[in-house]
Amino acid sequence: MSVNSKTQELKQRMQLVLQGGGTKAVEKQKAIGKLTARERILELLDEGSFHEYDLFVQHSGKDFDMDKKILPGDGVVTGTGTINGYPVCIYAQDFTVAGGSLGFMHAKKICKIMDHAMKLKTPIIGINDSGGARIQEGVNALSGYGDIFYRNTIASGVIPQISVILGPCAGGAVYSPALTDFVFVVDKISKMFITGPDVIKTVLGEEITQEDLGGARVHAEISGNAHFFAESEQECFEQIKNLFTYIPWNNTKKAESFPAKKPKSKEYKITSVFPSDPAKPYDVRHIIKSIVDNSEFLEVQELFAPNIVVGFARINGDTVGFVANQPIALAGVLDCNSSDKAARFIRFCDAFNVPLITLEDMPGYLPGIDQEHAGVIRHGAKILYAYSEATVPKITVILRKAYGGGYIAMCSSHLKADFVFAWPTAEIAVMGPEGAANIIFRNEIMNSDNPEKTRKEKIAEYKDKFANPYVAASYGYVDAVIQPSETRDYISHALEVCKNKVQEHPKKKHGLPPF
Ligand code: HXC
Repeated sequence: MSVNSKTQELKQRMQLVLQGGGTKAVEKQKAIGKLTARERILELLDEGSFHEYDLFVQHSGKDFDMDKKILPGDGVVTGTGTINGYPVCIYAQDFTVAGGSLGFMHAKKICKIMDHAMKLKTPIIGINDSGGARIQEGVNALSGYGDIFYRNTIASGVIPQISVILGPCAGGAVYSPALTDFVFVVDKISKMFITGPDVIKTVLGEEITQEDLGGARVHAEISGNAHFFAESEQECFEQIKNLFTYIPWNNTKKAESFPAKKPKSKEYKITSVFPSDPAKPYDVRHIIKSIVDNSEFLEVQELFAPNIVVGFARINGDTVGFVANQPIALAGVLDCNSSDKAARFIRFCDAFNVPLITLEDMPGYLPGIDQEHAGVIRHGAKILYAYSEATVPKITVILRKAYGGGYIAMCSSHLKADFVFAWPTAEIAVMGPEGAANIIFRNEIMNSDNPEKTRKEKIAEYKDKFANPYVAASYGYVDAVIQPSETRDYISHALEVCKNKVQEHPKKKHGLPPF
């Protein structure tokens, strides 16, 4: 065979694989608004950077006539490329080939590219579009999932792991995304569930559509399984590229620095976005935007547990992670979901060298039978654990209310915040003045000739004594009481002096966070 015919043969072999599941299957994919696996990778990665491997891997199934079938690439595309010029490892399941189902060799391809990512210390991106374990391959398919979950766990905190759900992700397959750091979903395209509508109907007699059970909105708003929600695949890829500007490539690096920019002070002036009436709620995202470079804030889990806001921004060009109570949602209380959301974000920041800025304004943990029975004790403890364990620079600003357990939990000096600043509007106390006065002055109020008048006087007395930052400052729990307009300056300086921070905990195999 001449060189020419050999190169010709390679071309032909490649062409067969690159067709995926064939024209009909590709048309079906497109008809429901989905791109093919390779199109997705090309859209996401820098132009011309994608290099595909293991194109000629074949499935190993023998039963149910599988030995007579050819499944191009065994239904998954794997390779390396760059995003914003930095290397990534990537895989995308190809639904046009046997429904992207995961057989033994399909899983081997995924595991191989995950192993590369760990060795090369690059992020791994998994695009999920699959009917789950390949039914014809039985336990060999299941073993593949186990191998992936194990790798997800070992890679956790070492390299960023991104899951993109662009089709079905059913059964045990959902646990790979659940073990990764950020899950991206697209409206009407993503579907995630452990047991689908048919099983639910058979077992429980309940009827529900795939969309209502595990569509993108459900996971972005209700379950909290998704971190980013997009209207289209293209928007989703832009979100991923943007996220990669804020996070480092692995846990030994810091995120890339950008030129420092001032906040957009016309739109987001701290004194304009913070209300002068202490009873009035405000959107804490506006406060964040009044502090950070170019007023740009990438919110994570925007639609889930909105009573806490988490996300990335930059100060003087360097990435920081914000955790902020949101007064316009449930008065910014901590509950089960907001504690989970914050704790997970704090741990990501700590694992990947992102300093944490906490903005506090909250009346405490949410009271109620539902919350107690849902385990607010266990969930609430996660935020305490995550902050206490975090050794990245931790800077807290108390804007208004810092009551009770919330005062402690929101990165107080007791959990080893490096710096705690308070605005003059801060109220640091065991509980709100109304509740406190009703308890400690109960007898005086009851026995008074005018209980309502006495109650008001006692509330005012308590407010005067405790609803300010100066008592906490007098004990050194607050490092400085600052003017709101000085916030960016104080945070910038704190970040600067924390640059060489080194903090170590006692050696142990691992801690036992309240999972
Ligand atoms: C083998 C599969 C498959 C699977 C789909 N296909 N899922 N082949 N194993 N798990 C094949 C179909 O037979 C079909 O092949 C092609 O993929 C396209 O599938 P369609 O059904 O035509 O597509 P659609 O109508 O869009 O429906 C998609 C779907 C449905 C909703 C995902 O295919 C489905 O319900 N699949 C099974 C989902 C499931 O129960 N998975 C759980 C497996 S157990 P042809 O040749 O006709 O084109 C599991 C446990 C893992 O995952 C545990 C890990 C811990």
